[in-house]
Amino acid sequence: MFAFVSTVIGTIWAKVPFVPTPKRTNMAMIEAAGLKGNEVIYDLGSGDGRMLIRAKKKYPGIRAVGYEIVPVVWFLGRIRKLFLRSDVDLRFGDAFKADISDADCVFLYMITSLMVKLGKKFDKELKPGTKVISHAFQFWDKTPVKEVEVPAHFGGTDRIYVYEW
Ligand SMILES: C[S@@+](CC[C@H](N)C(=O)[O-])C[C@H]1O[C@@H](n2cnc3c(N)ncnc32)[C@H](O)[C@@H]1O
Repeated sequence: MFAFVSTVIGTIWAKVPFVPTPKRTNMAMIEAAGLKGNEVIYDLGSGDGRMLIRAKKKYPGIRAVGYEIVPVVWFLGRIRKLFLRSDVDLRFGDAFKADISDADCVFLYMITSLMVKLGKKFDKELKPGTKVISHAFQFWDKTPVKEVEVPAHFGGTDRIYVYEW
């Protein structure tokens, strides 16, 4: 109950609710990243870390770093990481303050209002060619190199946008 209330309060404060990406969509995002197995990947707004943990399980040689701003949600990730014995790096903090200049791939599931700010950060920090893979939300001033549709729960469709920065 405490965790639930704290998560709700935290996500109101963070302005983005903690809604985990479903597994099938997660796996499609990892697939779309075209990883070879030695990359540095980030999940900005990493929630409970499940995306990174799944990527690391599939590609043990990658470095997987997440930033999560809501303490309880971040803590859930620490428990998940411990329980699943994953050595992903889940950091508590603001994704906008993260140094992501070494990223080969960035995963996102944010909201429209943050995409513009994220785009500006990427313009400044990302190496040319870095892949940015966004669940549901797109950058209006950029054309994705690929869009993927994944059947979602309850008959809907999840959409993934793949960018090369
Ligand atoms: C929709 S959830 C996605 C979680 C995870 N990436 C996934 O796909 O399962 C978005 C997460 O971003 C976090 N968040 C929002 N703003 C943030 C910020 N500035 N820095 C770090 N995390 C943030 C929220 O607390 C929330 O847990």
